[in-house]
Amino acid sequence: MHIRPISPGELDQFVAAGGSPEHREEVRWYLRSMFAAGSMRPEWCFVAEEVGVRPLGRVAFWALPGTGKPFALVLLDIPWDSEYMGMGTCLLEAVHDEARRLGTKEIEHVIDNPPMRPQFQYHQEKRVALLQSVGFSLKRETDRFEWPGGKPPVGADRLSFRTLEEVGEEAFVDTMKRVSEGTFDRQIREERERLGPQEAAREFFEDARRVEHDPSWWRLAYSRQDGDLVGLVMPAAPPGFLTLFYVGVVPEMRGRGYVDDLLAASTATLLDARTKDRDEKALRADTDVTNVPMAAAFERAGWARFAKRREFSVDLE
Ligand SMILES: CC(C)(COP(=O)(O)OP(=O)(O)OC[C@H]1O[C@@H](n2cnc3c(N)ncnc32)[C@H](O)[C@@H]1OP(=O)(O)O)[C@@H](O)C(=O)NCCC(=O)NCCS
Repeated sequence: MHIRPISPGELDQFVAAGGSPEHREEVRWYLRSMFAAGSMRPEWCFVAEEVGVRPLGRVAFWALPGTGKPFALVLLDIPWDSEYMGMGTCLLEAVHDEARRLGTKEIEHVIDNPPMRPQFQYHQEKRVALLQSVGFSLKRETDRFEWPGGKPPVGADRLSFRTLEEVGEEAFVDTMKRVSEGTFDRQIREERERLGPQEAAREFFEDARRVEHDPSWWRLAYSRQDGDLVGLVMPAAPPGFLTLFYVGVVPEMRGRGYVDDLLAASTATLLDARTKDRDEKALRADTDVTNVPMAAAFERAGWARFAKRREFSVDLE
C-alpha cells in the first residue's frame, strides 16, 4: 500500500478515491471552497493506492486559515465493506507522520450523525473502530443546531453591550474565565482543570481569535437596570459557515433567562453579516450533549437540532 499526496492536477482522482459517485460534485465544491478559504491545499490531500491500481482510499488535512498546521482530518474514506482496517491504519499512520513533520501536536476528526454533506460519513462504527485502533479517543459529543430561517428571536431589551475594543482584552478574557465556571461543556471544563481558569480562558481567546470575525461582534453584556456584568457573545465566521463561537452567563446571573437575550443579539449579528456578505452561508452551532440549558435556549430561540457530532483526537507527541 502506497500513501501519497496528490498533485494539483489529480483532484478528480482524490474525489473518486472514496465515497459514492453521486456525492462527488459536493465534495468537489467543498474542496474548492476550502482551498479558497486557505483551510486546505492540494498537497494536503492524500490517497492510498496499490501500484498500478486506481486510488481506493483518501483523507485530507484541514487547518484554520493562516496557521499552516493541520488541525483536523477530513474526507476520510476507504473501502469500508472490505479489509478496511489494513488500508485505514496504513493511511492514517502515514498522514500522522506528515502532520507531525508539519508541527501538529494533536489532530482531530469529527463524525456527524446522520451522515451529511460534504463528508457523507456512512459506516460510522467502523470509522470509530479504525480511529481507536490508531490512538484516537472521544473528546466531546455535541448536539448541532442550525438556524432554519424565519423570524429571528427578539431579546427582552434588558441588556446593553460593549465591544471587545471598548472593554479591552483583559476584561474580555476575565469574563471568559467567569462564564466558564461550572460549565457543562466537557472540553472547556477539562481545559480549565488542565491549565487553570485564567490560562484556559487566555488560550480559548487566542484560539478564537484565529477564527475570522469582525471585532465589533465580540461583546460583553451588562444589565440595563444596574450596569452589572451579565455575560458575553462571540459570533464568528469559520470557513464555510457562521457560528456562535461562545456564549456565556456569569454564574451569579444564571437562571434568569439572560441566555435568550444573548442568543437574540448574536443571531441578529450573524444574520446581519450574512445579508451584508450577500451569501447563503449556514448559521450553525454546537453544544456539548450534557449542556442541557444551552440546548434548551437554542430551541427557544428557534434554532433547530439537526445532528450529533462526535469529536475524536489523537496526541501525536
Ligand atoms: C448555558 C448558559 C449560557 C445558560 O444561561 P442562563 O441565562 O443561566 O440560562 P437559563 O436562565 O435558561 O437557565 C437555565 C437553567 O439552567 C441552570 N443552569 C444553567 N447553567 C448552569 C450551570 N452551569 N450549572 C448549574 N446550573 C445551570 C440555571 O440555573 C437554570 O435553572 P432553573 O431553570 O432551574 O432556574 C449558562 O449556564 C452558562 O454560561 N454556562 C457556562 C458557559 C457555557 O456552557 N456556554 C455555552 C457553551 S456553547
